[in-house]
Amino acid sequence: MIKVSAPGKLMLFGEHAVVHGRPCIVTAVDARIRVFLKKREDNKIFLNIPDLNLRDFLLIEDLDKPFKKEMKFVLTAIKNFFEKYQIKSGLEIETKSEFSMEFGLGSSSAVTVAIIKGLSELFGIKITKRELFDLAYKTVLDIQGVGSGFDLAAAIYGGALYFVTAGKTIKKIKVKDIPLIVGYTGIKADTATLVKMVNRKLKESPRKINKIFNEIEKIVHLAKIEIEKANWRRVGELMNLNQNRLRELGVSSKKLENLIAIALDSGAYGAKLSGAGGGDCMIAIANRKNRKSVEKAIEKKEGKIIKVRIPAEGVKIE
Ligand code: PMV
Repeated sequence: MIKVSAPGKLMLFGEHAVVHGRPCIVTAVDARIRVFLKKREDNKIFLNIPDLNLRDFLLIEDLDKPFKKEMKFVLTAIKNFFEKYQIKSGLEIETKSEFSMEFGLGSSSAVTVAIIKGLSELFGIKITKRELFDLAYKTVLDIQGVGSGFDLAAAIYGGALYFVTAGKTIKKIKVKDIPLIVGYTGIKADTATLVKMVNRKLKESPRKINKIFNEIEKIVHLAKIEIEKANWRRVGELMNLNQNRLRELGVSSKKLENLIAIALDSGAYGAKLSGAGGGDCMIAIANRKNRKSVEKAIEKKEGKIIKVRIPAEGVKIE
């Protein structure tokens, strides 16, 4: 049996603009998804996803039919891998997550990466990180039709990354630890819908929206430098500037704004939403002295503090 794990992610800077050719900064977080894979001698593919209360099986031929929503990432990854490497085999697959799929920490991207990495190990096919990224990115685009692939890069390479759309650039950012506080709004964000909404706005007002994207790009470049210097006060200020631009894009929400405001009031250097917006998580940065009071304030406003270690290692065979 093969056991693989891949980390979740948090977007630090540059969401949405990254879908349109700009860079972003993402970090892998040490909340991992584990996948267990075994070959079978027959033509059945068994899936066991206890986090979703899901146990099911299909035949290899069924990989050409539409999949149930909860199984899409796992099965599309298998289908794409089988097609690319001309393999047909029965399988047993089990996935286990250290974090709730609700948080927006990238469970779908982590599971996609872990499945493809696991299959390559199981069938003795050497694939590079780049090949893994390309196949995982194809899988996500087959399912969602949109996305930059930043979350896949975090799951594959680990650490904190400077990332450009579709993996045109993937560069490690040198940083040991990021004093980040993560607050979950309790609301699941709908990434694809928000990305499409921003696409629409870009079509309607290209000058206005491109100006916002260009400003975000400048913030990302500055943030990369300040993160490498561990200048957290300045990183916080840049988060606030990034959040202003996201607000202008119309992707923030009342709950996100409440949690961001309370984090700033209670001493954080900066705070912003992380990811598509509309819900999921906000992030804040604070010095050690203020950390507890910021966390308490977020909890008081009914945000759930999610403890994550940052950055984390990329996908690995365990
Ligand atoms: O909602 P999340 O955490 O998957 O983040 C989406 C980030 C976007 O930039 C809006 C989309 C993308 O694929 O980069």
